[in-house]
Amino acid sequence: MGFPENFLWGGAMAANQCEGGIFEGGRGLANVDLCPSGSRRQEILRGHGKILQMEPGCHYPSAEAIDFYHHFREDIRLLGEMGFRVFRLSIAWTRIFPKGDEEKPNEEGLRFYDEIFEECKKYGIQPLVTISHFDCPVYLIEKYGGWRDRRMIDFYLRLCRVLFTRYQDKVTLWLTFNEINMILHAPFMGAGLCFREGENEELVKYQAAHHELVASALATKLAHEINPKNQVGCMFAAGSVYPFSCRPEDVWEALLKEQENYFFVDVQSRGYYPAYAKIRLQKRGIFPQMQTGDEEILKKYPVDFISFSYYNSRCVSAGTQEMAEGNLFQSAKNPFVNYSDWGWPIDPLGLRITLNQVYDRYQKPMFIVENGLGAEDIPEADGKIFDDYRIEYLREHIQEMKKAVEEDGVELMGYTSWAPIDLISAGTGEMKKRYGFIYVDKQEDGSGTRKRTRKKSFYWYQKVIETNGEEL
Ligand code: BG6
Repeated sequence: MGFPENFLWGGAMAANQCEGGIFEGGRGLANVDLCPSGSRRQEILRGHGKILQMEPGCHYPSAEAIDFYHHFREDIRLLGEMGFRVFRLSIAWTRIFPKGDEEKPNEEGLRFYDEIFEECKKYGIQPLVTISHFDCPVYLIEKYGGWRDRRMIDFYLRLCRVLFTRYQDKVTLWLTFNEINMILHAPFMGAGLCFREGENEELVKYQAAHHELVASALATKLAHEINPKNQVGCMFAAGSVYPFSCRPEDVWEALLKEQENYFFVDVQSRGYYPAYAKIRLQKRGIFPQMQTGDEEILKKYPVDFISFSYYNSRCVSAGTQEMAEGNLFQSAKNPFVNYSDWGWPIDPLGLRITLNQVYDRYQKPMFIVENGLGAEDIPEADGKIFDDYRIEYLREHIQEMKKAVEEDGVELMGYTSWAPIDLISAGTGEMKKRYGFIYVDKQEDGSGTRKRTRKKSFYWYQKVIETNGEEL
């Protein structure tokens, strides 16, 4: 049986991690530009330690990133060579609205994405566009405090209207917010939130989340109105949460953690705040303020499909356990899985489990829009890169994904690995944490030619796509 003929194989990248060129094309400054690499990064991502301008002595990795801004033709050609059917990319909000609240968009920014989409078309690659991938104009943070302010909904919809109209002949697959649940873990990155002294941070996060949820529903409505062919998805950081043991208390903790994540998708897909969230948020005094009509908006405009990133499963315990890393979420160390060089669990079967759980819960088509291994690649003396560890990680995950499709019957639209070309890490800002099939000669200290080189995994993935996942 295998994957459906029209299965969308490809890869995913985000503007702030690849484009660079942050002072070019009339672009304005965004939150993501102000996340330095090094020890202060974590504090800033989490909304503590506000800096809304570049500080001397700090290194800002997004400023140049991998300079996709100037290399996009060559980069997309390489994706075409791998046989990509889909390329997930995000729009830098401040290329279109440099400040965020202007009436008119910046033509130069719009043209940049026109050119990208035209390039994709040349190679038969369908774009899948994330409207906001950890992206919020700095001006809107200064003036309104980011997503804590309800007026953000209007600015975001202004962006959506421009995108849906301008690109209606070029794009029909959209995601409203990347990893919307990340707002709870990295609120500056997820929603431009900088906390003020003494305020209830949890309340601010859920208020901002509510605004994003309403914005997401209204964006879905708008997308359908402007082009009925548009399909809109939500996107969350997934990964099933395992109980550390079969102790009922551990199982209960795991359930609570799952609900914390599913809350967002429950609202975006089912169209209402689930009972568990209503009660718990109210009890903790952090239920967000709603306006009349919000509930109706959420109800009337659910997403068409569910997308998610999967890097690893998580593990929780009601007691104290040794902890492990993992995509900005900490988790108890699971003794039954291996770990990456960055301490993230490697759990291919967890992907099958997650696919089943998400499908059971929502019964909507799904899209895996991120999955990959961050590792340090050391080129051989002749420049070749043999990244067998990456091939192994991807092979095992794709095998489990295949079983979920073939044997469990989940409905899956496609798979975009993170990330086809090496880029800047969102969590650490490092360049040496590489995910690509394509190596970029840029080193941690900024040296290097920026030359692109095909890794061993490039040819492997090319074959995977060519055989529609039969040859792994
Ligand atoms: C996801 C993000 O959280 O994980 C990406 O959507 C990010 O932007 C990816 O790059 C991998 O995380 P990291 O920290 O290794 O870059």
